[in-house]
Amino acid sequence: TPFEAAFHASAERHERVWTFCVIVMLALLTIGTMFYVVRDYGLVSATGAFYTDPADPAREAAFADGKIVRTGPNAYAVYVVGRAWHWSPDVIRVPAGAEITFYVTSADVLHGFEIQGTAVNLTAVPGVVGSVKYTFRRPGVYHIICNEYCGMLHHAMVARIVVTP
Ligand code: CUA
Repeated sequence: TPFEAAFHASAERHERVWTFCVIVMLALLTIGTMFYVVRDYGLVSATGAFYTDPADPAREAAFADGKIVRTGPNAYAVYVVGRAWHWSPDVIRVPAGAEITFYVTSADVLHGFEIQGTAVNLTAVPGVVGSVKYTFRRPGVYHIICNEYCGMLHHAMVARIVVTP
């Protein structure tokens, strides 16, 4: 009968609407769960303010720019920020024989700042600035690696220091 046909059409429409709603809710739940899991395990970098020191805006800006600053006739300051999964700046050019002071912090989780082939090794901590001095005697390319597990691409977190003659 026409009445039954209309009833079935209406029932099918309701069924489709509810199926759609259930799929959307499941999708949201899945995405939400993934987001929290990923964030809690440090797989995603939390961007935003990583180092704030209103008393020292110049230093804050230096980190933002990944600066290499000449501080004396044979001295440099290098501002390095670690974040999942790179160091910035990722290429640092300094001359051999110069005294380099590295200032190191992190934008998200803990990273391990290690210059291969040297004794330089410190932990990059969000909100904290660590510093270490080093003089490269031999020209060449040195690698900054990350020695603190920080997620999926931890092993790919490599920057270069080019020491010029
Ligand atoms: Cu950064 Cu491991």
